[in-house]
Amino acid sequence: MTRRGRHFLQIPGPTNVPDRILRAMDFPTIDHRGPDFQALGREVLEGCRTVFQTTGHVVIFPSSGTGAWEAAIVNTLNPGDRVLMAETGHFATLWRAMAQRLGLEVDFLAGDWRHGVDAEEVERRLAEDRAQRFRAVMVVHNETSTGVTSRISGVRRAIDRAGHPALFMVDTISSLASIDYRHDEWGVDVTVGGSQKGLMLPPGLAFNALSDKALAASRSSRMSRSYWDWQEMLKANATGFFPYTPATNLLYGLREALRMLQEEGLPNVFARHARFAHATRAAVRGWGLELLPLDPAEYSNSLTAVLMPEGHDADRFRTLALRGWDISLGAGLGKLQGRIFRIGHLGDFNDLMLMGTLAGVELGLRAAGVPIQASGLAAAIEVLSQPPTAAAAERRAANS
Ligand SMILES: Cc1ncc(COP(=O)(O)O)c(C=O)c1O
Repeated sequence: MTRRGRHFLQIPGPTNVPDRILRAMDFPTIDHRGPDFQALGREVLEGCRTVFQTTGHVVIFPSSGTGAWEAAIVNTLNPGDRVLMAETGHFATLWRAMAQRLGLEVDFLAGDWRHGVDAEEVERRLAEDRAQRFRAVMVVHNETSTGVTSRISGVRRAIDRAGHPALFMVDTISSLASIDYRHDEWGVDVTVGGSQKGLMLPPGLAFNALSDKALAASRSSRMSRSYWDWQEMLKANATGFFPYTPATNLLYGLREALRMLQEEGLPNVFARHARFAHATRAAVRGWGLELLPLDPAEYSNSLTAVLMPEGHDADRFRTLALRGWDISLGAGLGKLQGRIFRIGHLGDFNDLMLMGTLAGVELGLRAAGVPIQASGLAAAIEVLSQPPTAAAAERRAANS
């Protein structure tokens, strides 16, 4: 089948890479030990701090996000260490499996994949741990498999209330540069990020933002590591270089992405995503379908997970939407396979792209014979035709 026009890549990452970033990467690769690279290295290493809202070090690995999960563990912990994690969904479950494979003893707070981290339960478990055996609390900020965003500041407060010294590690892979995330203010020790979502880049870069406490832990941690070693990386980064061949062209892209985010201003980026999410949820309600997340305070602004009515297969619907309208939607992962679909609305995205996406979903639902109450598009237009909220406008003014 011949396809014309742009494919709609509306999975919750990788996201659409803007032309400006594609053009910025379309240059000859340079000597990664020369002066031009040094200027690039310095600019991106410095610029990343703003996105993580930290004044500390941010380490950039040529890897997928999974690599940065591993780096967070092997740089800070010891074999046999006990850690507390929370079952928010598929990605939290994968991170737990990795932690176990690396020899950690994981206490996994059970979850229903429709709620975020239960901060009270975290506090209770830490308070019970009088011997302070837990070495880390590890959670996913935005669970990409469910569209649930956990309140990281609440988890921080829970750790503090329990008076526990555990390290705090947070995965922000599908929230960074789309949902407000504050490494320093929320007292996070290691933040894990990836390039292919809010940063609008192709896959291939992963990040660890580090606190002083995490760095101190890395000096005494006894886990085997080599490629992921922060100390080697930081030594080279001090002069703008990397200890091995970096992903030079992706770093060109990162430089452009950071400039774009700075031009827009992070508060405006967050407000834009909040508006898309609000309009998408209005469309879902218009169709008469059910959102997977159960707590409105935890609705994700970067993606929306939608439950299929009983007797309808979400994967069949996604296949029909792809075939008919060239739109890729997110699949249900793990135990949600076939039961939900996910609409990604993050990254380089605007109102009309959202309307195109929602039209693709509605056409696909009709093609799959899924009963819908009414057009969700009208409900989304209602939201998008409202002026941005006063608060967002104020933030925009303050930022301009
Ligand atoms: C929340 C979250 N964590 C971790 C990962 C794994 O990242 P990667 O697939 O880049 O290794 C993903 C991927 O989508 C994710 O969404």
